[in-house]
Amino acid sequence: MKILLIGNGAREHAIAEALKKSPKCSALLVYASAVNPGIRDLAAVYHVGALNDAQAIQAFADENKADFAVVGPENPLADGVVDVLSMVGIPSASPTKQMAQVESSKSFTRDLLAKHNVPGGPEFKVFTSADGMMEFASKLGEIVVKADGLKGGKGVQVMGDHFETLEEGVLIAKDYAEKDGKVVIEEKFIGQEFSLMSFVDGEHVVDMPVIQDHKRAFEDDKGPNTGGMGTYSYPENLPFLTEKDLEEAHEINVKTVEALKEEFGEGYKGVLYGGFIATKNGVRLIEYNVRFGDPEAMNVFSLLESDFVDVCQAIIKGNLDELEIRFTKKATVCKYAVPEGYPTNPVKGETIKISDLPDGVNQFYAAVNEKDGQLIMTGSRAVAFVGVADEIEKAEALAQQAVEGVKGPIFYRKDIGTRALIQKRVEMMKSLRD
Ligand code: GLY
Repeated sequence: MKILLIGNGAREHAIAEALKKSPKCSALLVYASAVNPGIRDLAAVYHVGALNDAQAIQAFADENKADFAVVGPENPLADGVVDVLSMVGIPSASPTKQMAQVESSKSFTRDLLAKHNVPGGPEFKVFTSADGMMEFASKLGEIVVKADGLKGGKGVQVMGDHFETLEEGVLIAKDYAEKDGKVVIEEKFIGQEFSLMSFVDGEHVVDMPVIQDHKRAFEDDKGPNTGGMGTYSYPENLPFLTEKDLEEAHEINVKTVEALKEEFGEGYKGVLYGGFIATKNGVRLIEYNVRFGDPEAMNVFSLLESDFVDVCQAIIKGNLDELEIRFTKKATVCKYAVPEGYPTNPVKGETIKISDLPDGVNQFYAAVNEKDGQLIMTGSRAVAFVGVADEIEKAEALAQQAVEGVKGPIFYRKDIGTRALIQKRVEMMKSLRD
C-alpha cells in the first residue's frame, strides 16, 4: 500500500517509522511543511507545501495514488483535509472536520459532553460577550479561561498560573470573546494531569498506554508552557493513578465517542486523545485532541508491537474489535532537546551534533534541517530521545544519557521520569485523596 502521512514533527517521525516497519507499506508518501531528515529518509516521495492547503494535499495524494492517509497535526484536521481526501476516494485513519471540532472548538466540546451527559466535565459557561462573566467567575472562585478555537497551545489561561485574580481572568475572557465571538469560562481542577489516547474506529475504543507529559519549560515545572518537554509511561498504570481512575478516563472516551455518533449519525475515526486530570473527586476531562500527542506518540510507538498499518486499516474499516493491539510491557521516558531560549526566544540556525545512541534509545527528529551533513535547529523542539526499559529508572537513565550527548546550544529537562519528580506526583495525589 502507498500511505500518505501529513506533517513533519517528531510525532510524525514516529508515525512514519511505524508505517514503514509494516510489510504492507510499499511506499510512504509525505506531505510536509518543512524537511524532516528522519522522515525524508523513510519516504518514497517527500513534498514540501502549506499544510493549510487541502486542495494541494488532495492533488499530491491523488497523483501519487495514496491508498489511505494518516494526519499528524491538528490544523489540517480542523481545516477538513480528511473530507477533501475522501472526495477523491482516499480514506483516512484520522477524523473528519466535523469530528475534529472536539479539539478545534472548546465550546462545542463542553456543550456536546453536557448535552449527552458524558461524565467528567467541569462547571462551565460559554460567553459571547462580557455580560454575566464576572458573576459566573465569582461563583466558581477559581477559573480557567479557554479561547474557543485552535491557538497552538496558547489559548488556555489558568488562574494561579497565567493570571492571579478573577478581574484579570475576566479581562482575558472579554478579549477572547471579542476576537473569536466565543469564550469558555470553567471551573479549575486541582490534581495530576495525564494523557489517555485511544484508537477509535467509529464504535470500538482501544486505549494506548497511559502517559504523563511535562508542559513547563524548566525543571520542577517552572517557566513558560511549551509543546511538551518530555513524557513517561510505566509498564502498567502511572503510580499516582488508581485502576479506577484509568477506568473512569476510558469510560469518558467511550461516552464521548457515543455522544459524537448520536450527534452526527456517524462514528469518530482516528486517535482520540483525552487530556485528563485526577482530582480528589475522581477523573475530570481538561480537553480533547483529535490526534496523537507530541511527545506522547514517541512513547506509544516505542511500545507498539502490532502492525500499525493493520491498526489504521481497522480504524478505517470499523473492525478494531477483531484486532489484538499489543504494546510491550516496558517503561518509557522521552526527553526533548530544545534550542536555548525556547519557547519565547529560541536560537535558530544553530548546529547540533548527536552522539552515538546507547542501546534501548529511539531518536526522533523534530524542528531540524540537514545541511551539508549537519543538523540545524529551526527554533522549536529539536530532537526527542526515548529510553525503553523494564524499569522507569533505567528508561530515564537511557533517555538522559542520549539527550546529554547532544552538543550545541540546547537545553532539556533532567527531572522528567526521575524517581524524585514522580514521587512528588504520588505524594500530591495522596495528600489530595486523604
Ligand atoms: N502533549 C501535548 C499535545 O500533544 O498537545
